[in-house]
Amino acid sequence: MIQTEDMEFAPRVISPELNQEDGDSEITLRPQTLNEYIGQDKVKENLAIYIEAAKRRGEPLDHVLLYGPPGLGKTTLSSIIAHELGVNLRITTGPAIERPGDLVSLLTSLSDNDVLFIDEIHRLSRAVEEILYPALEDRVIDIIIGKGPSARSIRMDLKPFTLIGATTRAGQLSAPLRDRFGVIQRLELYSKEQLTDIIRRSAIILGIPCTTDGAAEIAGRARGTPRIANRLLKRVRDFADVMGNGQITQQIASIALSRLEIDKLGLDSLDRRMLEMIIKGYGGGPVGLETLASAIGEEAVTIEDVCEPFLMQLGFLGRTPRGRCATKLAYEHLGFRLPDSDDSGQMSF
Ligand code: ADE
Repeated sequence: MIQTEDMEFAPRVISPELNQEDGDSEITLRPQTLNEYIGQDKVKENLAIYIEAAKRRGEPLDHVLLYGPPGLGKTTLSSIIAHELGVNLRITTGPAIERPGDLVSLLTSLSDNDVLFIDEIHRLSRAVEEILYPALEDRVIDIIIGKGPSARSIRMDLKPFTLIGATTRAGQLSAPLRDRFGVIQRLELYSKEQLTDIIRRSAIILGIPCTTDGAAEIAGRARGTPRIANRLLKRVRDFADVMGNGQITQQIASIALSRLEIDKLGLDSLDRRMLEMIIKGYGGGPVGLETLASAIGEEAVTIEDVCEPFLMQLGFLGRTPRGRCATKLAYEHLGFRLPDSDDSGQMSF
């Protein structure tokens, strides 16, 4: 795989992962209540009921699993849940909990009804997961003291708490862990209208003059993801300050986003490279994920987590048991002639 240092260090503007450049602004822009939170209406409505019911009964909220592509607001929702419940929030990630002892100290430091948020929960080790099962089910942990024949296990009670687990890959969660969540909610990519509202809200908070058309232009290219929308807003602001009078209009947004090589539908160079490889290299597919990843010099997880959810939402990519296929819409968008139905037995729309 050819990867220059520049590629390694320059995060893609459209990467949905949090990067250093996002800095504190993601926290400033984060809504604090369910009312302020735009989109994910079904998830919000359900959570509002569960939160209200838990508060009325004076009990902790049942454990919640949030899953879906990165950048859609899983951490934001967990901080809203804790805020609405009026309890503390502890945030950590699966890979940061290296040993069972790390989880024991986290669990024993919680106060009544607190929320513990574990991002990337599918990356917890087996040994750590084993501690979690009785903690979630019976609010106890079993600690082993000593080694060898004299080792003893003592059981410790925990205070009532809520675990919120977040993952981009619900399928990788072990069944016993998944079964211990009472509330399982999938987050969906946002519509252009919802992203327009999010950008307008962020522009007001950041003091950036932005017309509705300007916000809509950015929204249409933010691949359904608020984190990308907010990042593009800040990049487009630079163009508005230098090339215009500081106001983000549709024209300035369109120029800026073209300069960032993000096309009208939000595809960037990686999406295009991937689709072109399927079309030119593999007759439109199907081609296996690993083969495709090495052909374009990209990690398979980046293709799976970043490119595919968006390209599938656009209807540009099909996933079959035999691999990935480019659709008719992808051929048309990239300006390729569709093969005649008898020159390719491989196309499947
Ligand atoms: N900022 C990022 N995500 C948001 C959302 N869903 N609603 C409002 N503001 C946001």
